[in-house]
Amino acid sequence: PAPGWTTETDVVVIGSGIAGLVTALRCRPRGRVLLVTKALLDAGSTRWAQGGIAAALAPDDTPEEHLADTLTAGVGICAEDAVRALVTEGPEAVRGLIDLGAAFDRSGSGDIELTREGGHHRRRIAHAGGDATGAEISRALLAALKDSGVEVIEHALVLDLLKDASGRAAGITLHVMGEGQPGGVGAVRARAVVLATGGLGQVFSATTNPEVSTGDGVALALRAGAAVTDLEFVQFHPTVLWLGADAAGQQPLISEAVRGEGAHLVDHAGERFMTGRHELAELAPRDVVAKGIINRMHETGASHMYLDGRHLGAATWEHRFPTILAACRHHGIDPVTEPIPIVPAAHHASGGVRTDLFGRTSVPGLYACGEVACTGVHGANRLASNSLLEGLVFAARIATAIEDDLAGPPGTDLPADERRAGGLLDPGLRGEIQRIMTSHVGVLRGAEGLATAVRELSELSEPSAPRREQAPGVAAWEVTNLHTVASAIAAAARLREETRGSHWREDFPDRADGTWRGHLVTRLDGNAL
Ligand code: SIN
Repeated sequence: PAPGWTTETDVVVIGSGIAGLVTALRCRPRGRVLLVTKALLDAGSTRWAQGGIAAALAPDDTPEEHLADTLTAGVGICAEDAVRALVTEGPEAVRGLIDLGAAFDRSGSGDIELTREGGHHRRRIAHAGGDATGAEISRALLAALKDSGVEVIEHALVLDLLKDASGRAAGITLHVMGEGQPGGVGAVRARAVVLATGGLGQVFSATTNPEVSTGDGVALALRAGAAVTDLEFVQFHPTVLWLGADAAGQQPLISEAVRGEGAHLVDHAGERFMTGRHELAELAPRDVVAKGIINRMHETGASHMYLDGRHLGAATWEHRFPTILAACRHHGIDPVTEPIPIVPAAHHASGGVRTDLFGRTSVPGLYACGEVACTGVHGANRLASNSLLEGLVFAARIATAIEDDLAGPPGTDLPADERRAGGLLDPGLRGEIQRIMTSHVGVLRGAEGLATAVRELSELSEPSAPRREQAPGVAAWEVTNLHTVASAIAAAARLREETRGSHWREDFPDRADGTWRGHLVTRLDGNAL
């Protein structure tokens, strides 16, 4: 559809998690900033983050050690320069967040309390409210936003990138649903566009991600011709509360910090099964633990495993993990007196829109920050609690890079609607896309299942498919984005004929350093290069 209204700004930021909010706040002194977000300002993944934010803040820790743990978790394909920026600028960035008003948990002596999570050899995870770190960060950033002069449009789904005649980003089209705002499809013209749209966990049936995490930024970037990379590396969190075999949608997360404080993974017989599989046992990198759980489920024929934290005691549960305790009790499980039933679920996209060290994508004027981006810091498997830090560090870097864009003249946009490939899909296909991805593109993958996924996804969007060409509406845009992203993930996963990081190829069980240290770049047609 052609835009019914147009507005103008210097920088348009899309998304209101840590990446979007910090980018908007950091860019504001440099020019006009408009932040658009799909639902309410706090609806994204940031506020759900439990464990915390990793940084070498302890006297016995160093950025070098944080670097080493991050590179190990990323299994040989992290961009080391990006990781170095992350870990060296990380401590200062966390202190900046504290200056903005975020209150982290402190010890009796006033030091920031630090915990451990999978893959970290040191205590370096700062947390807030026990296990409500993201909620506190979100609260503090939203408070800072209030008097910042950043304009906000809520309930606005971004559709496509506008480009000028030279191919530079010149703005976006968006569909606004909120009252008291210009409604319907509109356009924002801007000198720089920042994607901070978060993750894509909703391409799977069961995920830790909220409903809004539908991969909109990756889909937009693909349509705009931006390079998107490492999409096959969707990380599965080892421990979400098991709510039955048919549980779908956002699942309650049981933070790795629970294992960091000493809880054990056990099978139905009460046997620990991670000891002997990795030197860090329950605190091995996330992919190793997720695989260990699934292996044990297969070995025992069980539908789930357990996390046993009874020995932590009631006081620790109440003080350190109030959110998790309440969620478990809400579902009839008391972690103080019984082991928690758990399974892995889709959690984080390690890949995304490819950027350089300053968040620049392959399209001039288009930036990406946070989970939607692939800065290269995560490689094949993100280290726990590095993602809030990534949003924070790279948002500040983007704000410095954007100064160049603000110095240039505004571009003349070309109509975006002509670039939309094909029509919109029926919102009713959301469950079918999730079923295909969960059945064939999960932690365990193989050539046959991946070929089935690619074929079934492609059939859903064939011109002759019965459920196409929907009237524009948010649900139809979202399901179309989910389909675009799912197809790209499945295509990349099919090509990567090795086991590295987040996933496990049953037909290629080993890492193939000789042939597969590179990255797959995906195009809109679903082919990976
Ligand atoms: C958790 O609390 O386990 C999640 C941390 C993360 O995904 O980084």
